[in-house]
Amino acid sequence: MPGVYQLTLDLLEEEIHELRTLGIKAVLLFGIPSWKDDLATSAYAPDGIVQRAVRQIKALDSDLVIITDTCICHYQTEGHCGIPVNGRIDNDVSLDIHVKVAISQAEAGADILAPSSMMDGFVTYIRHALEESGYKDIPIMSYGIKYASSYYGPFRDAADNLPAFGDRRTYQMDPANRLEAFREAQSDIEEGADFMIIKPGLPYLDIIRDMRNSLQIPLVSYQVSGEYAQIKAASQNGWIDEKNTVLESMLAMKRAGADLIVTYFAKDIAKFLREES
Ligand code: PBG
Ligand code: ZN
Repeated sequence: MPGVYQLTLDLLEEEIHELRTLGIKAVLLFGIPSWKDDLATSAYAPDGIVQRAVRQIKALDSDLVIITDTCICHYQTEGHCGIPVNGRIDNDVSLDIHVKVAISQAEAGADILAPSSMMDGFVTYIRHALEESGYKDIPIMSYGIKYASSYYGPFRDAADNLPAFGDRRTYQMDPANRLEAFREAQSDIEEGADFMIIKPGLPYLDIIRDMRNSLQIPLVSYQVSGEYAQIKAASQNGWIDEKNTVLESMLAMKRAGADLIVTYFAKDIAKFLREES
């Protein structure tokens, strides 16, 4: 997509410098590994791409908050967020692998882990493993409310995690189901989540407001790739005003009750806000 790039490690220094200049305080890292296998071992290799990036960023700017996406779909041959066994996602086998990914990211120096697989019990497993390994203070930002959405399309192209068979509806949520969000959120909080991500963003403002009215932890709205693509494409065609539309989408998510927002427009927004002040 225009304005979104896969970065190699040699480009990190320039990127981090730009983020600091713009006043951006946190990043969410996704890795594109050089190889994939059935058990997603490149997701938890000590010299894996995200592990190396975390160390490098910490050395460049120790104040930047590093959040790592804790999942395996970019690293696993079949492109699923869990491990397929006989053509089905095996929840428990998957949890063991996710724990390894979480620990390796904590060891590398990640400040916050964002587990995104939606496997049952993923927050409990990761929380226990972190405690046992001595990482008692690392917060978990759970992708607890993640719908099986068509808005993830551009990301799947860019991150090469399109499932080789089936789809993600056996572990992501049904867009038609409003009440399930309450149950998913409740169980994640009991399991030890410190932040709750609701994803996608703008099409799910009602869910953000539902959660704001019922949860007492920080809420994160994730404006996903398809939302970015819509605004970009329309503004490149001259059909809408990019700056005003982007800022209005931020305002809408805040109004619905989001405390934090994950967005591909972060750098643009930082620039827009500078122009205004
Ligand atoms: C999967 C994952 C997804 C996104 C990031 N990690 C969803 C998916 O592929 O099902 C989507 C992000 C976006 O569209 O911006 N762990
Ligand atoms: Zn995944």
